[in-house]
Amino acid sequence: MSDEKRIPQHVAIIMDGNGRWAEQRGLERYEGHAAGIEPIRASSRAAIRHGVAFLTLYAFSTENWGRPAQEVDALMELFCQSVIHETPDMQRQGIRLRTIGDRSRFSEKVQAHLAQAEELTAGGDKLTLTLALNYSSRDEITRAVRKLAARAAAGQLAPEAIDEATIGRTLDTAADPDPDLVIRTSGERRLSNFLLWQASYAELWFPEVLWPDFTEEEFDRAMEEYARRERRFGLVK
Ligand code: IPE
Ligand code: IPE
Ligand code: MG
Repeated sequence: MSDEKRIPQHVAIIMDGNGRWAEQRGLERYEGHAAGIEPIRASSRAAIRHGVAFLTLYAFSTENWGRPAQEVDALMELFCQSVIHETPDMQRQGIRLRTIGDRSRFSEKVQAHLAQAEELTAGGDKLTLTLALNYSSRDEITRAVRKLAARAAAGQLAPEAIDEATIGRTLDTAADPDPDLVIRTSGERRLSNFLLWQASYAELWFPEVLWPDFTEEEFDRAMEEYARRERRFGLVK
């Protein structure tokens, strides 16, 4: 395998452990979320340094709406503030910001801030940074099935013409390459409804570190671990 192959093209991270990080310090949970911004900067820098082209971060699941209103409100405020605050830096670094997930459930303000940051960073060609917001795989797949069914019902799509590529293109991730590596911090070993279709053959890495403590060095360690993995895709090697 060439060295180039040993660098994942797409890394996806389930940023977990903010609440525990805050609790360990006697802080409010939202302070853990606020402390989770710096590791996003660090991961983006490290991704660019390693030549990773796509970084997808699970920031808010469809299930997270069930958390206390105070925590959900704090997260919404944090999304607004950080996307605007980080935009100049993202522009400087060549980061293109995008989101996956159903944004329609967010307030007009959150939607407007996200749209503005996306527009201002659209020219970024070093890293596509995708935030999964109000995202879950089952919701994404359900919305995709609905779209395909509507096209079939309208006579624009023959059912037998639906193949894996059709489904892939209809998901929020559309033409993105599948993640090669999925990292979940905080020692939890589950996917929690994240990229279930896309991560079919992804390598999985579950470091113990809580998300607010995730550093560029942690990202480097994940890259080293990935380089050691042997991917087979069902074949004999
Ligand atoms: C991840 O940290 C951030 C979000 C889900 C928004 P958590 O808030 O889940 O942190 P823990 O798992 O309670 O420690
Ligand atoms: C997954 O973390 C969602 C995000 C990181 C945004 P959770 O903390 O919500 O997942 P569970 O509840 O532990 O599975
Ligand atoms: Mg959690």
